[in-house]
Amino acid sequence: MGKYTITVLPGDGVGPEVTEQAVAVLEAIGEMYQHAFTLHKRLVGMAAIEAEHTAISDATFELCAQSDAILFGAIGSLPAHISLDAQIKPEQALFRLRKGFQFFANLRPVRSFESLLNASTLKPQYLRGTDLIVVRELMAGLYYGYFDSTPAKPSEIRRTSQGEEAIDTLLYTDTQIERIVRFAFDIARERRKKVTSVDKANVLSSSLLWRHIVERIAPDYPDVAYEHLLVDACAMHLLRRPADFDVIVTENLFGDILTDEASMLAGSIGMLPSASLGTRQTEYGFFGLYEPIHGSAPDISGLDKANPIAAILSVALLLRYSLGLYQESFAVERAVEQTIATGYRTVDIGEEGAQIVGTKEMGRLIIDALSYQ
Ligand code: IPM
Ligand code: MN
Repeated sequence: MGKYTITVLPGDGVGPEVTEQAVAVLEAIGEMYQHAFTLHKRLVGMAAIEAEHTAISDATFELCAQSDAILFGAIGSLPAHISLDAQIKPEQALFRLRKGFQFFANLRPVRSFESLLNASTLKPQYLRGTDLIVVRELMAGLYYGYFDSTPAKPSEIRRTSQGEEAIDTLLYTDTQIERIVRFAFDIARERRKKVTSVDKANVLSSSLLWRHIVERIAPDYPDVAYEHLLVDACAMHLLRRPADFDVIVTENLFGDILTDEASMLAGSIGMLPSASLGTRQTEYGFFGLYEPIHGSAPDISGLDKANPIAAILSVALLLRYSLGLYQESFAVERAVEQTIATGYRTVDIGEEGAQIVGTKEMGRLIIDALSYQ
């Protein structure tokens, strides 16, 4: 019997709804496999800004630091609420966590479940067999000037004699590139042994350095095949021949965009989980943050419509990477697959003849399926 501590940060919009189902799955696993999960639930994002005047309080951050893992929902408010000069933004919570815990690797697995092939807007014959993972660099690139402005990484809107102008900075050091590329090659070794490195080396200096470093590292992995793809071409090939990809490694913003695109290979953005990992280890594996890749979806929040599967599959990743509980992790993934195969769908993956259920009911069905694993 294991004892584990997890900080739960449900956040905003549909975050609390999907996280409630993810927590229920975690608790069911605890009962079935006799693990004691101690869960600490705290505010984050808009919810924390309203109650605590900060996107994430020091106390909540500290609690995360003392946990084995963080289960995260979603944050953000309607764009209309974001003013140009807002000092406190819900997203700051994510950036504090990513940076504070050095989560430089964001893993986003994408699978096209056989029973969901028809739920996608894409043709099933091209989706069949898709099983890839995007390794997104999470601690550098264009993102960081904005949320952590330093003179070396300017990001601002400024007034000039000509009018207004805005600047962002895309900065990568060799160390930052090297560690994410090695991470991707290591993962490929456990999979189908193929890495696709994605950049924009025909235009960007940061991409040129990226490509050179991939070339330098690849010989250390003679058993892993690799290729380079320009990001625009990659966006196209993801739709044209998705089943060819195994591990895709790329910089922060490219990874953000490509994974929203790739989510349609799985049928819906409501299907994609993620794990953010870094150098810090727990007793059982990586310390990590687990979250669906979708946002807070304020338009459907509170309506029991959101798909909880991305959040539930994030629990599966948490069990695997942070707690080292492989059997339990597979059980969650199989329970999801089985529930879908039986024909149950949330609206985002709904199709003709499917049984449409709400967020809560989908969670309950998956927990039900767990008991047959
Ligand atoms: C994601 C999200 C975040 C990001 C937002 C909420 C800042 O889109 O995790 O993909 O861009 O990293
Ligand atoms: Mn995103």
